[in-house]
Amino acid sequence: MKLWGGRFTKETNQLVHNFNASLSFDQKFYKQDIKGSIAHVTMLAKSGILTDDEKDKIIAGLEGILKDIESGDLLINESFEDIHSFVESTLIDRIGDTGKKLHTGRSRNDQVALDMKLYTRDEIVEIKALVVTLLAELNKLLGENIDTIMPGFTHLQKAQPITLAHHLGAYFEMFKRDYGRLCDIYDRMNYCPLGSGALAGTTYPLDREYTASLLDFKAATANSMDSVSDRDYIIELLSALSTIMMHLSRFCEEIIIWNTNEYQFVEIDDAYSTGSSIMPQKKNPDIAELIRGKTGRVYGSLISILTTMKGLPLAYNKDMQEDKEFTFDAIDTVKGCISLFTGMISTMKFNNERMKSSAANGFTNATDAADYLVNKGVPFRDAHGIIGKLVLYCIDKNCSLDDLSLEEYKAISPVFENDIYESISMETCVSKRNTIGAPGQAVMKQVFKANEEFLKTL
Ligand code: ARG
Repeated sequence: MKLWGGRFTKETNQLVHNFNASLSFDQKFYKQDIKGSIAHVTMLAKSGILTDDEKDKIIAGLEGILKDIESGDLLINESFEDIHSFVESTLIDRIGDTGKKLHTGRSRNDQVALDMKLYTRDEIVEIKALVVTLLAELNKLLGENIDTIMPGFTHLQKAQPITLAHHLGAYFEMFKRDYGRLCDIYDRMNYCPLGSGALAGTTYPLDREYTASLLDFKAATANSMDSVSDRDYIIELLSALSTIMMHLSRFCEEIIIWNTNEYQFVEIDDAYSTGSSIMPQKKNPDIAELIRGKTGRVYGSLISILTTMKGLPLAYNKDMQEDKEFTFDAIDTVKGCISLFTGMISTMKFNNERMKSSAANGFTNATDAADYLVNKGVPFRDAHGIIGKLVLYCIDKNCSLDDLSLEEYKAISPVFENDIYESISMETCVSKRNTIGAPGQAVMKQVFKANEEFLKTL
């Protein structure tokens, strides 16, 4: 059954039907569609537009449909145009003429605006929960690795010693911002569009605030034209999801590098690795690579909706039906990626020895050596030059600053004393860095506690 056959004299061309139909994908929100309809008829009865009897009959019918879809007794019939038509005609089939009153004071434009909002709102709650699990795992690892020294990089060149806790802490901050973004979007989108009609409200005395409260919205949307054509929240969500993927992808890239034979900073667990069909020795970081790869797909969904919305005149246009498939895909992709990523890092082994010796073998303490001279009264620019010369000398000798004898130090500057060794040890380099945000153990212990407190508030 079609919802709009009356003014047509011909059947729809089959290709047109196929092209126009959205059931294949909008059936994903059958639950939200039914929930919205139940709220709508509850409001219609309260406002005196339907009788309580009619309301009860319709709600019982809708609940039956929901139960039967969930149990598999009712299959969603692919010949319908969309989920709205399917639910409404099934209701009419089941309860007769009373079912024809369901759509009073409603258009599919405000109905689909509601369904999509309810669906994405539910998904935001789920994605937030996954981000919280990831944050908890990151903080657990952070707490365990406050003393794990590793090289910090700039330009992918060893720069200064840091700790693994500090590195993980950087990602904690990123995902914490992601969490905040999801909360912001939820709050901003949490207004109910139902009752906006096709675009200009309705002449029925609808109690929109009541419908909004039945569906746990903060309030009703303020402008009916905006309500049926607003897809900003989808754009915001896809932007937030793209940012989550960007963060996951950056971390995956590092894990891929750290997992190489050259680095050996980590070993990805067998359960999260795959093999090669030809090279027996291979253990590939496919999960990290796939997460990195799927980032492009989520970015694509953002660009797609931005492009679809660009230049659309008010109010509803059918173009907006294109908001769904990519959004569903992006949501499912991100959920899968966060879960797998969390599993991968929680089972991954960190090679602490290897990380520490890597930090010790790349002149990562050169800045601290310069600072040593500064503390003894040498101007920083001169100290920088002296240590630069020493580094060249070491490269020539194939050794590190720590391996030089005091005589070799003194040959370049008489200021050096025996305490140079202690001053440039990896431990000192890290433990002396105790300003806010730095890797020193004292700060990182505070960060760990603060993160724990933050997690408790979620
Ligand atoms: N399937 C449509 C969509 O997703 C539902 C709204 C249809 N409205 C209309 N005026 N044809 O946007």
